Amino acid sequence: MCGIFGYVGNKPARKILIDGLRTLEYRGYDSAGIFTPRGGVIQAVGPIAALEECLLVDDSSVAGIAHTRWATHGAPTLANAHPHHDATESIWIVHNGIIENYQELKEELAADGVTFYSDTDTEVLAKLIGRQRADTLQAAVVVALARVRGTYGLVAMHVDRPDELIVARMGSPIVLGVGSGEHFVSSDPAALLPHTKTVLYLEDGEVAVVSASACNISTLDGVHRQKATETIVGEAAQLQKQGFAHFMLKEIHEAPEVIENAIRGRLMAEEGTVKLGGIEPYLEVFSKLDRLTIVGCGSAYYAGLVGKYLLEEYAGLPVEVELASEYRYKRNYHLGNTAVLAVSQSGETADTLAAVRKAKAAGILTLGIVNVVGSSVARETDAGIYTHAGPEVAVASTKAFLSQITVFALLAILLGRQRQLSAENGKELIQALTELPQSIQKTLALSSYIAEIAKKYAHTRNMMFIGRTFHAPLAYEGALKLKEVSYLHAEGYAGGELKHGSIAMLDAEFPIVTLVPQDAVYEKMLANISEVQARSAPVIAIGTEGDTLLPKTVDDVILVPKVHEMLQPIISAIPLQLLAYHVGVAKGLNVDRPRNLAKSVTVE
Ligand code: M6R
Repeated sequence: MCGIFGYVGNKPARKILIDGLRTLEYRGYDSAGIFTPRGGVIQAVGPIAALEECLLVDDSSVAGIAHTRWATHGAPTLANAHPHHDATESIWIVHNGIIENYQELKEELAADGVTFYSDTDTEVLAKLIGRQRADTLQAAVVVALARVRGTYGLVAMHVDRPDELIVARMGSPIVLGVGSGEHFVSSDPAALLPHTKTVLYLEDGEVAVVSASACNISTLDGVHRQKATETIVGEAAQLQKQGFAHFMLKEIHEAPEVIENAIRGRLMAEEGTVKLGGIEPYLEVFSKLDRLTIVGCGSAYYAGLVGKYLLEEYAGLPVEVELASEYRYKRNYHLGNTAVLAVSQSGETADTLAAVRKAKAAGILTLGIVNVVGSSVARETDAGIYTHAGPEVAVASTKAFLSQITVFALLAILLGRQRQLSAENGKELIQALTELPQSIQKTLALSSYIAEIAKKYAHTRNMMFIGRTFHAPLAYEGALKLKEVSYLHAEGYAGGELKHGSIAMLDAEFPIVTLVPQDAVYEKMLANISEVQARSAPVIAIGTEGDTLLPKTVDDVILVPKVHEMLQPIISAIPLQLLAYHVGVAKGLNVDRPRNLAKSVTVE
């Protein structure tokens, strides 16, 4: 949460900083601000667009820092907007993270006569840095950080050293971009793509002195770090809407390509298995696993729940799925040979990362299913599988969710072939995976039809989603997606749970979305539909092509291609995503940037 961007080089800094913030806006959009040595500070409440008029004013600065905020300490006001400064306005900082002991530090500084203009923890840090008697800004930052508990991705600059940025990291992502006679600092490598693909990742406890020509990294206790640069993948064009009205719609429509990327080079059709390079060194360990614990948050957690069904059904591996935010604080029992698998699009979600660290500290093998290459979860797990979904810009996860389930399908085949899945069944699944992008394309063609259904229900106040087995987690995800982008009250349940309480809510004003593919629990779902219809609830059904009964039974029906049972959740997710999208649009909401949210939840 919060995006920070920094530049020092040979070009006018302001435009580079604002372009950087535009890419990072998904991390928070409560306020934005930049500081350049010659142009000074410019801040605005609300999205980045409010800053753009500063581009009309001349500013020859070739360095600067920028921030887009997701409010944690203090309301989204101008006073709380970053960058923040010390008492003499010589030191300016942007910060992503939380200074946990800021209140204590603030009281201490206040007792010394320091005054404060904002409610933020970041201002406290700026003032603390400014109070240090040190020869250099780097030294002042290091001494101040020694007093701090909490997390930070930090960039600081001093007006007397306009050619230098001091960058530090503890728990919040920071990547340095290496250009020709210029350096960049960003919370996310994707924002560097328009400038460079050569990067240096800063680790927790490291501080960098960055100028146009050099980047000197050391630990907070002064040990020099020699780092090799890495190359990031992706194209700047992926960060544009490319003709779509919203990033969310574009990303939903990228689904066929996303599946192709997730399976590319991984299918071994003749052997009826898959090859997952990232976890290959652990194949022997996997064959002896007694159980697996999956951790994640939000949609990634729901993808993990689908993963549980797939791994238990096809690989015969007992799986438990835990919310990372619970796993990290509770007592966990890992019996027998076990591993913890973290699922995360960003790879930076604070709770997921903390769960990984907890498992590691307990000596448990940690694995990741991650989208962002080089992210913290990817780097800190012992091994992992990238989803290769490409940058996901909209706050609501769509394509990343599909790619996570696809990777679970691959993992289920791989582990299944080690345990119980015949080569013949493996081949059948590989064939189904190969054909999946085509079926997805057909599903996407339903978008305008779904838009009509969405308009019909957009002004309802509540909606419920139900599904069973592989589709129970899809019901949870469908409800989350709708809540997120339309602010409708929505709840997801496993179909069998309905009569244990929540059916009490249903009436003619409470529509229910039912996931009814023609699978082993089809008839059970039809029974659920009858039950809710007996309470007058309007029913929207997502079924499979060829079903002649469903259209006669429900109020609105969306028929999607029928694919292999293992992959049907991937197809079913698309109408759910489109429904949420079109309801949000019908309500005139900013579906890409829903209120109160940020894409990457890097605070706890
Ligand atoms: O980056 P991650 O996958 O770790 O993010 C986890 C959740 O914050 C994320 O899935 C969130 O629930 C999405 N906004 C859902 O659309």
